[in-house]
Amino acid sequence: MSFEQQVALVTGAASGIGRALVQRLVTEGAAVVAVDIVEAPLQALVAELREQGATITGCTANVASESDVDAMLNTATSTFGRLDILCNNAGIMDLMTPAAEVSLDLWERVLAVNLNGPFLACRRAIPLFLEQGGGSIVNTASEAGLRGGAAGTAYTVAKHGVVGLTRSIAFHYGERGIRCNAVCPGAVATAIGIGNGVPSEAGLGRVMPFLKASAPSRVSTPEELAAAIAFLASKDASFINGAILPVDGGWFAA
Ligand SMILES: NC(=O)c1ccc[n+]([C@@H]2O[C@H](COP(=O)([O-])OP(=O)(O)OC[C@H]3O[C@@H](n4cnc5c(N)ncnc54)[C@H](O)[C@@H]3O)[C@@H](O)[C@H]2O)c1
Repeated sequence: MSFEQQVALVTGAASGIGRALVQRLVTEGAAVVAVDIVEAPLQALVAELREQGATITGCTANVASESDVDAMLNTATSTFGRLDILCNNAGIMDLMTPAAEVSLDLWERVLAVNLNGPFLACRRAIPLFLEQGGGSIVNTASEAGLRGGAAGTAYTVAKHGVVGLTRSIAFHYGERGIRCNAVCPGAVATAIGIGNGVPSEAGLGRVMPFLKASAPSRVSTPEELAAAIAFLASKDASFINGAILPVDGGWFAA
């Protein structure tokens, strides 16, 4: 897999899956725009990878904000002149909150980041891809985009939405050179439960035993997700469009 001469934008780049993906893409020769809402860890990653010779720039942005999404796409074109790959990966969790306990605030926050975010970025990137003659989008959905019992209600609805967004873009733009695919991680060892969403002792107390009981054999590493996303983004997957790929060690198959 080589990403030489290609420009990729990754959201949620400062931590977990996004961080591993950025590392993978720069190692394989891509120029990368690394996007995250938290500035310090993002800039630390950018500095570290630049020191190792990577072509990378950081952009602090909230993917739920239309103007921030415009700015992050503008960063790609103004810095590198084009964009070939968009990875909508930023996300927050809802700590297994079932429908009757979901406040409107939690609902709106989770939908804004996990669903509006990918939609806004796709809407902005597609005209660019059409102008350039093609492009590749990989969305990070979830096991919760495939079934009803893998997360709380807001997160499940958002990730089902990401699956629908992926298929709709694949259908509408495939013939014009745009591929759009999604990965559905099972349980991955990252900071998502504690980093940015709605951390609470009660919530974490619900999530951890659930993950341990549900995930088939072990949790995956962020690098295992990065490998699957990089494959779908790459020219090796040139005829794969609209695929919703579980990367879950067999959880969905059970
Ligand atoms: N970890 C898992 O078990 C798991 C399972 C299924 C799906 N996922 C999905 O994988 C993706 C990556 O999550 P992760 O596990 O690496 O979590 P993580 O918390 O380690 O990383 C997520 C990153 O997204 C950033 N982010 C959050 N809100 C943002 C916003 N509004 N704008 C820009 N950046 C924002 C965070 O600052 C963080 O750096 C998410 O979409 C998540 O829903 C994770």
